Amino acid sequence: MKNTLSCFFLLSLVVPLLASSVDNKVYIVYFGQHVNGEKALHEIEKFHLSYLHSVKESEEDAKSSLLYSYKHSINGFAAKLTSDEASKLSEMKEVLSVFPSHGKYSVHTTRSWEFVGLDEEDGHSSRKLKIGGEKLASRAKYGKDVIIGVMDSGVWPESPSFSDQGMDPVPKSWRGICQEGVAFNSFKCNRKIIGARYYVKGFEAEYGTVNATEDFLSPRDADGHGTHTASTAAGRQVSDVAALGGFAKGTASGGAPLARLSIYKACWAIPNQPKADGNTCFNSDMLAALDDAIADGVDIISVSIGTDEPVPFENDAIGLGALEASKRNILVVCSAGNNGPDPGTLTNPAPWIITVGASSVDRAFYASVKLRNGLSLQGPSITPNKLKKMYPLVYAGDVVVPGVARNLIGQCLPGSLDPTKVKGKIVVCITGAGLRVGKGLEVKRAGGVGFVLANSESDGDDIEYDAHFLPATTLSYDDGITILEYIYSTKNPMAKISPGKTKLNYKPAPFMAEFTSRGPNVVDPYILKPDITAPGLYILAAWSEASSPTKLPFDHRSVKYNLYSGTSMACPHVSGAAALLKAIHPRWSVAAIKSALMTTTVITNNLGNPITDSYGNDANPFQYGSGHFNPTKAVDPGLIYDATYNDYLLYLCAAGPDALIELGSTFKCPVNPPSTLTLNYPSFAIPNLVTTVTFTRTVTNIGRPKSTYLFSAEPPLGVDVKATPNILQFKRIGEKLSFNITVSPRYDVAGENSDYGFGWYSWDDGFYHVRSPMAVYLP
Ligand SMILES: *[C@@H]1O[C@H](CO)[C@@H](O)[C@H](O)[C@H]1NC(C)=O
Ligand SMILES: *[C@@H]1O[C@H](CO)[C@@H](O)[C@H](O)[C@H]1NC(C)=O
Repeated sequence: MKNTLSCFFLLSLVVPLLASSVDNKVYIVYFGQHVNGEKALHEIEKFHLSYLHSVKESEEDAKSSLLYSYKHSINGFAAKLTSDEASKLSEMKEVLSVFPSHGKYSVHTTRSWEFVGLDEEDGHSSRKLKIGGEKLASRAKYGKDVIIGVMDSGVWPESPSFSDQGMDPVPKSWRGICQEGVAFNSFKCNRKIIGARYYVKGFEAEYGTVNATEDFLSPRDADGHGTHTASTAAGRQVSDVAALGGFAKGTASGGAPLARLSIYKACWAIPNQPKADGNTCFNSDMLAALDDAIADGVDIISVSIGTDEPVPFENDAIGLGALEASKRNILVVCSAGNNGPDPGTLTNPAPWIITVGASSVDRAFYASVKLRNGLSLQGPSITPNKLKKMYPLVYAGDVVVPGVARNLIGQCLPGSLDPTKVKGKIVVCITGAGLRVGKGLEVKRAGGVGFVLANSESDGDDIEYDAHFLPATTLSYDDGITILEYIYSTKNPMAKISPGKTKLNYKPAPFMAEFTSRGPNVVDPYILKPDITAPGLYILAAWSEASSPTKLPFDHRSVKYNLYSGTSMACPHVSGAAALLKAIHPRWSVAAIKSALMTTTVITNNLGNPITDSYGNDANPFQYGSGHFNPTKAVDPGLIYDATYNDYLLYLCAAGPDALIELGSTFKCPVNPPSTLTLNYPSFAIPNLVTTVTFTRTVTNIGRPKSTYLFSAEPPLGVDVKATPNILQFKRIGEKLSFNITVSPRYDVAGENSDYGFGWYSWDDGFYHVRSPMAVYLP
């Protein structure tokens, strides 16, 4: 099909386009740092055009092929090139790398249409206010004066979460703009959303003009994702948030409710695909967005975007943009990705980024199904429900129309149920093929009054739940068997589905989301990633009114707030927390904020046991990094593992490919760059421990002037970890002390199976507990 299409296009277009642009593709030509500080912007564009001109026939050609000149902090351009022209450019002296523009980036919300929702009840939504405890938030003046840039699918500016009521005027130093476009004029910006821009040239080079029924050619969000992440990071406190059907009322708030937002829309609806299948973000567009965000003067950039698979540094638009951000001391916070539970799936692995995994919060939504024999079974539900009495109960497999394939019986696929046998009944369906929401819709179509979705054997008790179109609840596989046994044990099986309830203080919490992407970090296995975990399961935040809660084509509901899941939702929690830290410690470096967040995490759940995965097994640092973020502690961490932009360049000398080793002319790599393990990082990983490994770390005292820290370690089985010295005595604030960490395999412990083992080391002075995780592979 695809081939036929492109043949058709070639036939009809080959004549007018002829030689010039037939195999033109968009490439990013990357120069690294700007040389000699700041050139005037038009000179940089001239410089870029001169390179382009050198491979193009005319200046006109060069100009018309240029999409973006990245000129503020990122030095490079995006242009339409033939593969010949691209390879010519890549051989030029000052060019560090040339890589294709592509839309392999997408927002980090997996199964988006399956995680759908309504508003929450009072109480648990307001607990999002307490991201760092009320005290921290008020000490940080709720993030006032901090500017968070959000690169995503845009924003729904009318959401009450973005009200600027009572906020101070926009800071004088702000250099951003409010870019107008479809359904978005400059009045849409205010003292809350102080900037908004969009980047579409990379997208349009691939897909053509944005389809006006699918997306807005402006910063306006047609999807919901960007509105959700922006309001999670810095939404106002909004009380009386009403839900679909008046289901619940409560208060919603972002982490730093008085921080400013600047919106950088770089993700667009994929043409002719349901919104539920997500959107796409081109690296050429994202680099332009990051370049502008840095120049506009943001303090933090929140990026809930990544590739499906890890990409090396030289092709990693987010990583390269974030590196330049770190030079200006702008922190970039990214989602880890939603490709778990497989190992090595983690994206956004650069050490100057905070990479965030996703975990649960201590609330759950439940509805029970009561059987006439007195038995009551319950499972997760976020579906509104006003069923008052018992109805006849049937198993879907017994009420199908003829011709449904045997292996699909019971699955409630579209058109499979017989209305004469379903009308007025509650139907039990089984998970498997087809959308979960679609199964409910089929029951509704056939005249059912309610629906119970039981897991298949392979889904077991790992239940995912949705906002259905009729009263519903879910059941585990075992409970599904119980309900079927009941149906076949009695002549007139009857059941009632009770209204859903929200359980607070749900235990255990947090647990790791099954989908959260895992280490090891395949781009650089010596840097332990992710760095941290934060709430990313069923998070309530603002939504685009141009979208629907499920984003499914048949869902025409519109909501102001929506429950959504993904590492995308975890990332802005950390961005909001970082804004609070930044407000209190405006001079902390990017590495200091990271270190503070990482060394103060929580690694136990609310039962006092180790944090588990979604199956109840102990989780490990390849899932949660240093642990669950704990902003209240992070504001006063005692010691800091600091690092500078130059340290990151030195790191790249060892980690990057040849092209990245000489980043501009101001920095020269040593002939033998040190191992990437030596970067002053608050955690470490060793992918192959065959002999003793020693490396140095340096901590800066920002706790108490006179303090004595003692070292302790809980290494993985078969590994010895020592520090020299193992006592650090500080005499003043700001003092830096170094220590060597020695990691050795223990030959007295027989290695059972080669695998990663996990452990911790920490520095304690009796008041501060500065903890770092480790991952060590014993061959
Ligand atoms: C625009 O999108 C709508 C909805 O997906 C589709 O029906 C229509 O054909 C699209 N228009 C073009 C020009 O592709
Ligand atoms: C760490 O080890 C290096 C190399 O062995 C040594 O030169 C340095 O003095 C040690 N540093 C400390 C703090 O012990």
